[in-house]
Parts: sequence; C-alpha cells; structure tokens
Amino acid sequence: MIIEPRMRGFICLTAHPKGAEQNVKNQIEYVKSKGKIEGAKKVLVIGASTGFGLASRITSAFGSDASTIGVFFEKPPVEGKTASPGWYNSAAFETEAHKAGLYAKSINGDAFSNEVKRETLDLIKKDLGQVDLVIYSLASPVRTNPNTGVTHRSVLKPIGDVYTNKTVDFHTGKVSEISIEPSKEDDIENTVAVMGGEDWAMWIDALKAENLLASGATTVAYSYIGPSLTEPVYRKGTIGRAKDHLEATAFSITDSLKDIDGKAYVSVNKALVTQASSAIPVIPLYISLLYKIMKEEGVHEGTIEQIQRLYQDRLFSGSEVATDEKGRIRIDDWEMRDDIQEKVAQLWTKATTENLAEIGDLEGYRKDFYNLFGFDVAGVDYKSEADEMVQVESLK
Ligand code: NAI
Ligand code: NA
Repeated sequence: MIIEPRMRGFICLTAHPKGAEQNVKNQIEYVKSKGKIEGAKKVLVIGASTGFGLASRITSAFGSDASTIGVFFEKPPVEGKTASPGWYNSAAFETEAHKAGLYAKSINGDAFSNEVKRETLDLIKKDLGQVDLVIYSLASPVRTNPNTGVTHRSVLKPIGDVYTNKTVDFHTGKVSEISIEPSKEDDIENTVAVMGGEDWAMWIDALKAENLLASGATTVAYSYIGPSLTEPVYRKGTIGRAKDHLEATAFSITDSLKDIDGKAYVSVNKALVTQASSAIPVIPLYISLLYKIMKEEGVHEGTIEQIQRLYQDRLFSGSEVATDEKGRIRIDDWEMRDDIQEKVAQLWTKATTENLAEIGDLEGYRKDFYNLFGFDVAGVDYKSEADEMVQVESLK
C-alpha cells in the first residue's frame, strides 16, 4: 500500500517500513565509518527498538561485532495497517545483522513483566550462555509492578508550584505560554515506579541469580539533566525524581555486582527528538533552539552519534570511565557547554511564533520527528507501494 503519515495530536499513527530500513542502514553506516570499538561481545538491550536503545544495539553489533538480544514492546503489522516504527526498525536491524553474520534475536513484550524476563533469561541461557553488557533504555508512561500487580502511570509535572513558560506546537510553529499544574499526592511515587530504577535492578538481580552475567559485566541506563530553563518540568519535576532514583540505583546495582566485578553506570545523554520527548511541554521549544545553536557550532549529534561516542570515548576507551562528581557518565557535555546554553537562553527570551522558524531549527525538529516514523527520509520513494507486512526474522 501507499503509506503516508497520519497524525493525531503529538503522535503519528502510521510508520513507513522503507524509511525505517533506511534510517537503520544510515545508523549502521555511521557506526562502521567510525571504526571498531573494543567493546562487549554479548549484549542485552532492553528498549532496543527506537531512540537510544536502538542506537545502542546498532553500535554494539556494528562497532564491536556483538551478538545482541533486543527486548521491546512494539505493534506488529496487520493487513492494511502498519506496524509501530520500532517494529520496522527491528526488522531492518535483524536483516542487516544476519547479513553481516551477527547473532541477533528479539523479544516483543512487556519488559516489566516476569514472563518477558523469564523468556529473555532462557534465551540467553540457550544461545549466549552469559552477557557482558546490559543496556537499559526503556521509556514508558506506564508500568505494572509484577510483584504487587499495581499499575503505575508516570506524569510530567512540576513539584510544588504551577510552572508557566513558553512552548511550541511544532506542527504549526505556534509559540504560546503554557501553565502546568503541580503534581498531586501519588504522582511522584507513581512516576518513580515507572521511570526510576526498580525494574532495572529487578532485571540485573534476575540475570545474576541465574549466573547469566559474565565476570566484569557492565550495565548502563540513560538519564537527562538539561538546563535551568526546563528544570521545573524536567529535572526538578516528577520525572526528575525518577531520574534521581535511577541514578541512585546505579550505586546499589554496582554493590550487588561486587563479587563478579560488575559495574552499573548512568549515562546522561543529550536532549533529542524522540516519541517520549515530543510529549513533554516546553522541551520541543528548547530542542529547536538547541539544535539551531549546536548545528551552527558544528557539535550537533543524533542518537547514533551520541551512543557511538559514549561507547568509543567513555565505556570502551581503554582507560578508566570518566564520570562527574555524582558518578555519572556525561555525554551531554556539548549540549551543556556554557557558550551554547548562554545562546539558547538569549534566543529563548526572543522566541515568538513569527521568528521561531528563523531563530530556531523548527524544520530540523519536524524532520527528526517524521524520521522517527520512517517519513521524510532521503532516498525513500514514498509514492511507491510498500509492503506493510514486514516481519522481524527471529519473531516469525
Ligand atoms: P524511545 O521511546 O525512543 O524508546 C523506548 C524503548 O522502550 C522502545 O524500544 C520501546 O519499545 C521500549 N519500551 C517501552 N515500554 C516497554 C515495555 N513495557 N516493555 C518493553 N519495551 C518497552 O525513548 P528514548 O528517548 O530512547 O529513551 C530511552 C531512555 O533515554 C529513557 O530513560 C529516557 O529518559 C532517556 N533519555 C532520553 C532523552 C531524550 O531527549 N529523548 C535524553 C536523555 C535520556
Ligand atoms: Na530506547
């Protein structure tokens, strides 16, 4: 069928398999162009189908010839209805990995559940024996805790006071003021339950209990800090509490891995257009200004550039992993450069509907957003029929 983007609010209901395939191929080419990384060889990626997790899977496979198992939660296609983008990304990834002679298998289901953990442990046991790197890159609005049966929903709210600032509807380019009500009673607790470190620790405990972590194994989860501008809704809001919890969990996991000489890290990554970040008010305006400045300064990166640099210059550089005073890896260093943040802050006060297309990178934002769904990708013929029924090889 001919597949076109169909928008509803901030989400796109369709995805293009050819565009997704091209995106994955571009990411693979980028990683190959940067040369080999002396990294982990058996890698589990939880949240492997889009964003930073997909980039991690690609960097492991094509930077270090790693065998990868990817866990994700995506919608397969049905006749006449496309799959979700991560499904097509994973199909393309597996095809390319298999062509290159690399082991790659996937598990599609709820990573928070005991069942998906069980299935993953069994697959590692059967095919890989052990893993030496576990990337934890889930972004979800909801989690059912398998021990309590309670379903938690995360919210993106400030804590204490109403927060008022500018935001942009990136579809129309309209800049407006938005006020976000502060969190209520259980909002913090629920957001921490979804996006904090509890499930990460459960994964690592389960792997370790069955001796599936190799000696010296590393695990990495991703966090964000950002500028003071977005603090009330991000780092000092409900999601920030979850990130505090995630970061604290790295230390308790490292303690639990002492006997196998393992280590847990949190890497603080750059703000990027993903399905998750598009839904946070204020952030899209910040990102469009940030992109403009970072492109001008020649230091703009996407997910693949971020993760390739994380692996090559931080995790597997051959020297000790550099961290900040709180033990975190910082790959948001270019975003947070003083000169870049000063320029963004200046533009922020000026930004209006009339001038944003000029002073900000609204076009770049939109392009990245459409690219997430496989649209607006260079070299893809969108006028031709595309087969929506593309399958992930290991899930056939
Ligand atoms: P994303 O939305 O692109 O990827 C989320 C992944 O989680 C997908 O593979 C999805 O299938 C999987 N997933 C979601 N719920 C699941 C479930 N119940 N079971 C199994 N898989 C599930 O998100 P993105 O942006 O790559 O985020 C990953 C991490 O990076 C998050 O912790 C996020 O906070 C962090 N981060 C994101 C930044 C950004 O600007 N996008 C910046 C810095 C950190
Ligand atoms: Na991800």
